[in-house]
Amino acid sequence: MKASDLIALKQTALGEAAAAADAAALEAVRIKYLGRNGKLPEIMKGIGQADPGERKEIGQRANEFKTEVQALIDARREELQAGASSEAAGSFDLTLPGRWRGLGTHHPISQIIERASAIFRTIGFTVADGPDIEDEFHNFDALNTPAEHPSRDSHDTFYLADGRLLRTHTSPVQIRYMQAHRPPVRIIAPGRCYRRDTTDATHSANFHQVEGLYVDRQVSLADLKGDLGYFMRELMGQDVRIRMRPHFFPFTEPSVEVDFSCHVCGGKGCRVCKHSGWIEIAGAGMVNPKVFSAVGYAPDEVTGYAFGMGVERIAMILYGVPDIRMLYENDVRFLEQF
Ligand code: DAH
Repeated sequence: MKASDLIALKQTALGEAAAAADAAALEAVRIKYLGRNGKLPEIMKGIGQADPGERKEIGQRANEFKTEVQALIDARREELQAGASSEAAGSFDLTLPGRWRGLGTHHPISQIIERASAIFRTIGFTVADGPDIEDEFHNFDALNTPAEHPSRDSHDTFYLADGRLLRTHTSPVQIRYMQAHRPPVRIIAPGRCYRRDTTDATHSANFHQVEGLYVDRQVSLADLKGDLGYFMRELMGQDVRIRMRPHFFPFTEPSVEVDFSCHVCGGKGCRVCKHSGWIEIAGAGMVNPKVFSAVGYAPDEVTGYAFGMGVERIAMILYGVPDIRMLYENDVRFLEQF
């Protein structure tokens, strides 16, 4: 017996142990090589006849043989046992932990709507809603926008075959809410809107607005400015200022557009605010008495303010989203950043 024979024998033993198809075959391999009358003890018995110069090395190789073959047999035994128990359970190992797929987050549009709702709730507003499919009365007529009114053009409405339409703004929720409730009224109404717009980086045929309406005795433009200022500071940071510019909407008189001081440059002028220091955020105004008449409120007893703002616009400004389409493509690499 030479040391090199022992190495060759070890390879054979390892090969047989690895190939053992079941526990009985594996035990046979163990007995054949490591058992009391197995090949290894036999070699050890004969070590006295070996060349004296080689005895030490044969001893070392024999030790290696024993530990390596035993280790492989142990490992193979565990493998066979695991396989047997998973087969017994119909190839499901019920004790394995599940695979973690990661938790989703709310879409940025939903996040803005939730934040707006939460902020307005702190000053006494409740959340109202209305149907996406509207009629001309609620979407236009009751909002002092009769058939030939020029502002109807700019809305580019999707009409249904039956004459109804997809609402072009959330303002019809004002009408529905006032028809169903007596003043005082303090609501916001977030929701989807639809316009025949060609899609580009800042336009989408389907977008969202948050409508606001506050009606009571002696509500004034100062209330509007105070409340929208509070909202913007809560949303964008306490340094934000707002301003109002005269504008026109048929359902408010006077009407304004509301800007807030650029959150990036603080009003000094930068790329984000197109160097004006201000960013437009909402259309608003004092509810036109004709709107009160349309819903049966007494125009000489109550006053109110209303506003409407674009949710996508706010999301894009707040999160620095360069293209509105990113908000609809649902690319997980984009969405998981929020
Ligand atoms: N409905 C308007 C639009 O879609 C936004 C708006 C302006 C809403 C003034 C209002 C308001 O309630 O008072 O462009």
